[in-house]
Amino acid sequence: MKYRQFGNTGLRVSEIGVGCGGLGGERKMGLEPALERAMDLGVNFFDTCDTYAESRSEQTLGRVFLNHPRDRFVVCTKFGGVIENDEWRRDISVRHLHEAFAASCRRLNVDYFDIYLVHTPPRDILAHGDLIEALGRMVEQGKIRTFGLSVEQGDFATEFVSASPGRAIEIAFSLFAQDPRNGFLEVARKLGVGVICKSPMRNGVLTDSFRPDPAPGDRRLKSLGPERHARMAALWRQVQPILTAGGRTMAQGALAWLLSFPQVSTVIPGVVSLERIEETAAASDRPMSADELAALDAAAGGALVGARVD
Ligand SMILES: NC(=O)c1ccc[n+]([C@@H]2O[C@H](COP(=O)([O-])OP(=O)(O)OC[C@H]3O[C@@H](n4cnc5c(N)ncnc54)[C@H](OP(=O)(O)O)[C@@H]3O)[C@@H](O)[C@H]2O)c1
Repeated sequence: MKYRQFGNTGLRVSEIGVGCGGLGGERKMGLEPALERAMDLGVNFFDTCDTYAESRSEQTLGRVFLNHPRDRFVVCTKFGGVIENDEWRRDISVRHLHEAFAASCRRLNVDYFDIYLVHTPPRDILAHGDLIEALGRMVEQGKIRTFGLSVEQGDFATEFVSASPGRAIEIAFSLFAQDPRNGFLEVARKLGVGVICKSPMRNGVLTDSFRPDPAPGDRRLKSLGPERHARMAALWRQVQPILTAGGRTMAQGALAWLLSFPQVSTVIPGVVSLERIEETAAASDRPMSADELAALDAAAGGALVGARVD
């Protein structure tokens, strides 16, 4: 496993992290051995959120963290909402921030977070000066090392890091969602911002489990709908031979492509199983050649560069 600096924060993170969305929920139970295997393989970056799987994601991670010294792992968690009557409701009040911090510390069995992110932030987040100030004080008090946002769009991330001391951005970035290339990555480099790539395989489309010719009941065909699925399948066919060159799996290729950007700190494929942790962790040792990178930029007549496939 290779490691990178997380912007100018002094944090050192594994190139491959683990996304713990859904961990502890119905489809993702009993994955503690997979998380232990990730630790064995040198993964030190774990992304979670206080509301993932009704807090069971943090609880599961907390059980695993008990087996390891605190300096062995980097905790990235999020706050910003509460679940009431099965509905997520935003709450970014300073009072909720402090309550959420204390509750996440208890579940994760830690007394500080390396990275604290606002989950699904409102577009006017910078107008919430009291929240930004409170997060800044938490940094001074040693409760968190840095803070930031989890977002979809590069311009939102750019706006935030340009006007706040937060130095962490989790952003949707993959070969099929390239918006961060349109300016944000350059700003992140200049300002020393750590960049976490969420949904790095475009929610599983950029993997060998995607079926370009799906059977009628195919799960992704249902969730994407026939038109979106067909658009993605056409592009998938074009990039698949390049991503899998040299014996890489498709997921490894998708991650290696992201790691070709020096501004990227870590990528967080969603946790599924021990075998898939082994597969994705190995991507750190299978970088892409300059020719492969150029071929991916040229695929589909260059239409993927900077664009979102939808
Ligand atoms: N803050 C936010 O708003 C937000 C939003 C989205 C994601 N995230 C973070 O990003 C993480 C990852 O995002 P994601 O799960 O949406 O997308 P992803 O990592 O791009 O895709 C994960 C899916 O890919 C498939 N897959 C195939 N091979 C795999 C392999 N070797 N390793 C892992 N998955 C493989 C699995 O689906 P099948 O089993 O169906 O094949 C899996 O569920 C989340 O866990 C979360 O931490 C945050």
